[in-house]
Amino acid sequence: TAVRVKGRDGTEQTVDATDGMALMESLRDAGLGVEGTCGGAMSCGTCHVYVAAAWADRLPARSQDEADMIEALADFVELRPTSRLSCQIPVDAGVEGLSVEIAPQV
Ligand code: FES
Repeated sequence: TAVRVKGRDGTEQTVDATDGMALMESLRDAGLGVEGTCGGAMSCGTCHVYVAAAWADRLPARSQDEADMIEALADFVELRPTSRLSCQIPVDAGVEGLSVEIAPQV
């Protein structure tokens, strides 16, 4: 499923994200600097992305654990209303055209 990704260097590209997996895994495998250190356990924050506003309501809502981890990033990086952990964004055909920006490194 094609997802538009703006990297930390500002360049945009289309990533062919793997259905049935978390978006984090495709971003990581694309070599975009998303480490996904915790493997999706919501404990590292290295998979933080800013989702395009138009998509914010089209993704599954944040769980409390995800919201807590994002909050914990506030000391290190800018948070936005559309901040998400990409390990909590499931990829399927429904996210075709999703647009995200990779947040600064933590
Ligand atoms: Fe660690 Fe998402 S991969 S919080």
